[in-house]
Amino acid sequence: MIQTALVTGAASGLGNIIATHLLQQGFQLVLTDVNLQRVQQAAHLLDSHGDRVLALGLDIRQVQDVEQALAATLERFGSLEVLVNNAALTLATPVMDIKPDEFDQVLSTNLRGTFVSCQIMGRYFAERGYGRIINLASLAGQNGGTASGAHYAASKGGILTLTKVFARELSQSGVTVNAIAPGPMDLPSVHALVPPEKLAGLLQMIPVGKLGDAEFVAQVVALLASPQAAFVTGATWDINGGLFMR
Ligand SMILES: NC(=O)c1ccc[n+]([C@@H]2O[C@H](COP(=O)([O-])OP(=O)(O)OC[C@H]3O[C@@H](n4cnc5c(N)ncnc54)[C@H](O)[C@@H]3O)[C@@H](O)[C@H]2O)c1
Repeated sequence: MIQTALVTGAASGLGNIIATHLLQQGFQLVLTDVNLQRVQQAAHLLDSHGDRVLALGLDIRQVQDVEQALAATLERFGSLEVLVNNAALTLATPVMDIKPDEFDQVLSTNLRGTFVSCQIMGRYFAERGYGRIINLASLAGQNGGTASGAHYAASKGGILTLTKVFARELSQSGVTVNAIAPGPMDLPSVHALVPPEKLAGLLQMIPVGKLGDAEFVAQVVALLASPQAAFVTGATWDINGGLFMR
């Protein structure tokens, strides 16, 4: 049976790279994003006939969107086996300048969005007795952040905790829940936060002296998404160039 994976925030950046890799690994893919037009374009680029790829608008802040995405996936592909919670809002406002509304905006996207989709998809996976959930956390959730804001870092720390709670809750049902905590990747979002004149300074701080490879993160997602990964749950996989060592 061909397995189906749903990736949030898949119109661009890491989510798009993860979706592309999972497709190459043989999955059917549901690409979702708050930006419908961009995710439709991304899906068309991956599979112009739409045989193995479905594009959906999904705002992870909206419970109804998540429920509808699950229903549309089941209607199109018959089942869902893998959820990758990748969508996020990355802001870098200095902590003393963050307005409470901006704090809420980041937390409701990153933390609440992950909570809602783990709950809705997790319930579906548990009923079927199989599922793989991979949450994109961040090094920022472990060390308080290097280039990102306090709201972003706090939301990612919360995702690490939610990963453990859902992993425990779903462990008897054939469902694993794991997190990946990347450090700064060689991605447009990082270059947007770190201007070229500050890049050398950032690289000096990273023990291995370079930004991370997003393709490798996608490979780790595929590993955690495989049926063979049944004994890994509640884990956080650090991919951070040595910036944080346990
Ligand atoms: N880039 C890095 O170095 C890095 C490091 C650590 C963790 N991460 C994590 O990896 C993930 C992807 O990072 P990225 O750099 O590709 O980010 P990005 O900002 O480039 O892309 C995020 C995607 O999420 C979508 N999105 C935003 N709000 C949404 C919402 N409410 N609902 C649905 N989609 C929404 C955006 O449209 C965009 O396509 C994020 O969870 C991020 O926190 C990235």
